[in-house]
Order: sequence, then structure tokens, then C-alpha cells
Amino acid sequence: MNQAPRKYANYIPIRELKAVEQQLFPFQVYAELRSNTPVRYDEHRKCWDVFRYEDVQYVLKNPKLFSSARDRANTSMLTTDPPKHKQLRDLVNQAFTPRAIEALAPRIQEIADELITPHLQQGQMNLVDDLATPLPVIVIAELLGVPAEDRQKFKDWSDALVKGARDDSDEAFQELMEEKKRNQQELAVYFRAIMEERRQQPQDDLISLLLAAEIEGQKLSEEELVGFCILLLAAGNETTTNLITNAVRILAEQPELQQRLREHPEHIASAVEETLRYYPPIVAIGRLARETVELSGQTIQEGEQVISWVGSANRDGQVFEHAEQFIEDRKPNRHMGFGFGIHFCLGAPLARLEARVVLNTILQQMQGIKLVSETKLQPIQSAFVFGVKEYPIQFES
Ligand code: HEM
Repeated sequence: MNQAPRKYANYIPIRELKAVEQQLFPFQVYAELRSNTPVRYDEHRKCWDVFRYEDVQYVLKNPKLFSSARDRANTSMLTTDPPKHKQLRDLVNQAFTPRAIEALAPRIQEIADELITPHLQQGQMNLVDDLATPLPVIVIAELLGVPAEDRQKFKDWSDALVKGARDDSDEAFQELMEEKKRNQQELAVYFRAIMEERRQQPQDDLISLLLAAEIEGQKLSEEELVGFCILLLAAGNETTTNLITNAVRILAEQPELQQRLREHPEHIASAVEETLRYYPPIVAIGRLARETVELSGQTIQEGEQVISWVGSANRDGQVFEHAEQFIEDRKPNRHMGFGFGIHFCLGAPLARLEARVVLNTILQQMQGIKLVSETKLQPIQSAFVFGVKEYPIQFES
């Protein structure tokens, strides 16, 4: 297999999405690209972009043709291919069954209440900083068994894992890579120490469970376990923050939806799914072509990078009726907001539960949710993430 030829496609937005307004609402641009250049090579980023549902799904369901093993040093399941991928995933799957996750509901409700209640009287809240960011970090910290006093440190590490470069330059990119490496090393040291403690004295937490996990005589190595803990932070925290924020953004943009969901709380779960389709936290997923392959009439060469735009696929009118409308009880809803195929999001049951609990609580406690007027929304600077940096809301309680 070739060395990955480039490194920037993950960090530079496509040129059609340079303007802030478009980054805040990229879906019109996606629609144009989907119809004009459904599969195209970008000379600047040195990668292929794939925009239609059928093609995106084809890429994601064929790991033999499109590899996840990109230019990352770590050995996490996200960046491995079969058969190694299955071995890693089966070992941790036991901890992430919908049933195991559902048991966390009462504790997640408590955390949500603790974070929301102090703001109810003021009728205002900085959704991102006060709720959407801390909630997933606290949940994952508790799940892993990170002591409460380490939470701030833990949050800083978690934020640094998903930080973007300050600009497009080579220096900024190098700087970012070095910072990330240092950060990962610190986290690895930290997790190794917790593992040592749990080995001596197992607790009722994920790290203890994973230390004991075994399938057909195979266990996770210490390196794999550390890699997995870091992956959970990198893959789970910012994504869930954006799911919560994007969901509330839709409520504020479509006020009549608030009342409809209050009258039909049974639609909250499907409204979360529709958020994953309509405003997905992850809009693009990268792969590397392992063979030369034809896709919608274009020839992708072995070793070239392929970006699958799930944010575009999710709005494809060939698959979704009234694709540009948010329909809270849409059924079926075959969105790819959690990806597709063997790498389908491991944390999906947890992310869904957190979003459901938050939406339900917010709708019950707050009336007339609006974006604080005069707020200038700022998009998150990342080629792969769809979200805003801040989302201050006002409401009546
Ligand atoms: C994989 C999205 C939350 C853990 C993925 C993938 C996507 C995704 C699109 C597929 C990546 C690929 O195919 O290369 C999201 C979104 C989330 C979310 C939108 C929140 C709304 C979480 C949470 C966790 C998590 C809460 C864990 C606590 C993972 C892991 C993988 C993954 C471990 C890799 C699975 C594999 O390679 O087999 N996620 N995720 N995610 N996600 Fe999530």
C-alpha cells in the first residue's frame, strides 16, 4: 500500500465553501455540486469529492476498495481495515450495546438538569459553553472512570484533540500536528496511570471492563486500549456538542417545531435522527483508494484520497422526499450522519440518548427559544465538521 500522498484535504475547506455565510449554510452549495460535478477531483486539495447518496454509500460500504488507514500514527479502529478492524470493534462492542447505554439515561438526565437549571431564571444561556460542550465530556469521563477532580484537565485535552489549524499555511499545519502529538502523549500517560490503578482494583467503569474484555483468547493490548480511550474523546465529544447545538439551532430557526414537539414528545427521537440528516455534525468522511476504481464515470487512481460528503448525500432528492425540509417524524430516514458500513459510529446509541434527553428537557423547561438577537454566528473552522462556535439562546421558563 502506498504512503498517503497528501495531508491537507482534512483541514482545508473546499473552495466553494470559503465564505462565512456558506459555511453557516452549505447545503445550497452541496446541491449545486451534487448536480454539476457529483464526483470530481480537486487539484488544490489533491483529493476526490463525492456528493451523491449512491456514490457516498458505495465508497463507505466497500472497505476493500476504499481504505480507512490514512496518514495517522495511532492504531485506532477508526483508521484500520478488516480483519484488524473487526477484532478491535468486537472487543469494545460489548460496552456500547444500546442496552448498556440506555442504563445511563437517569444519570444523563441528572447531568442535563444540573447544567440547565442555573440558567432558567435568567432566561438566557450560552448553549455551547453551558450545556452542549460540558455534557458529553462529563458523560464520557464518568463512563471511563475519570475522577471528578481531573475533569477540567480532561476537557482541555479533549478540546485540543479536535482543534483545527489557525490558517492554511504549512507552518500552521506543522504546528498543529506537533501540538496534537504532545497532547496525545499526555493523554496516553494519564490513561496508562488509570489503567494501572484499575488493574490492581477493578471498578464499575469502562476502563475496567475493557481491561477484562476478551474474545477467543484475544485481549486488547495496552496500546490499543489507550488508543481506544483517546478515540472516544476525539470521536465523541465535539460531535455530540454539535449535534445538541445543531438540534437547538433548528428549534430556534423553526419556532413552530418547538410546539409540535412539545405536543408530540414521541417524535423527539426521530427529530434527533432528522437533525443528523439535516444539520449533521460530520459532513464529510475520508478514505484512500486501494485500487484504481471507476465511480460515476470518473477514474480514481490507487492511492488517491476520496472525501465522501455525507452532508450532501443526506439532502439527495433521489433518496429523501422533500429533502430540503426538516420533517421531525420522517420515516424511513436513511441518513448517513453516523456514517455507513463497518465503521458506522460506535457511539451512536450514546449520542442519540444524550441528544434526546437534552431536547426533551429543554422543550419542557423553556418556551419560545430564540437565538439572542444581534448574534453573529461563527462557523467552526473545520473542513469536516458542521457547527457554530457559540449559540446564545433566550427563552421564557
Ligand atoms: C465513527 C459520527 C458520537 C465513537 C463515526 C463515524 C461517524 C461518526 C460519521 C464514521 C467514521 C468513518 O466511517 O470513518 C458521529 C456523530 C456523533 C458521534 C455525528 C454525535 C452526534 C460518538 C460518540 C462516540 C463515538 C458519543 C463514543 C463515545 C465513535 C467511534 C467510531 C465512530 C469509536 C469508529 C467506529 C469504527 O471505526 O468502527 N462516528 N459520532 N461517536 N464514532 Fe462517532
